[in-house]
Amino acid sequence: MCQKTYIMLKPDAVRNKHIGEIVNRFERAGLTIERMELANVTPEQAAANYAEHAGKPFYDGLISYITSGPVVKLIVSGPDAVAICRKLMGVTNPLDAAPGTIRGDFGLTMDENVIHGSDSPASAEREIGIFFA
Ligand code: RTP
Ligand code: MG
Repeated sequence: MCQKTYIMLKPDAVRNKHIGEIVNRFERAGLTIERMELANVTPEQAAANYAEHAGKPFYDGLISYITSGPVVKLIVSGPDAVAICRKLMGVTNPLDAAPGTIRGDFGLTMDENVIHGSDSPASAEREIGIFFA
């Protein structure tokens, strides 16, 4: 089923000059880049995106990190785009992410794990609304 998902290259990916290589992986898989924009995440957007984590021990660090520098915001589309993107990204902790995945190849720590991707079609719709209002 053709879907849209929200992808965000986090501040470490931009700072480490990995934008091109990461975007290439989505295109190489056959997905379509519908929108792409370099921007800073506002505190309001960060809080809305990570509302499910409010109150957790890592929450404050997560918000200050995601607002610490420019990110690349993308809408990516294609068949099962949500799940395909999560597979290309690898699991949350780069320590456990398989080589060949984005987090496995470009990340080292849970705090700076390179990329965000919506975890369901409902999250994708919500997050696209937050970041491309
Ligand atoms: P994301 O939302 O960033 O795409 O990552 P995710 O779905 O794979 O993981 P999620 O559970 O939604 O966590 C969001 C971000 O919070 C940080 N985190 N730290 N120290 C910890 O236990 C912990 N757990 C999560 C990570 O940076 C993760 O990407
Ligand atoms: Mg998540």
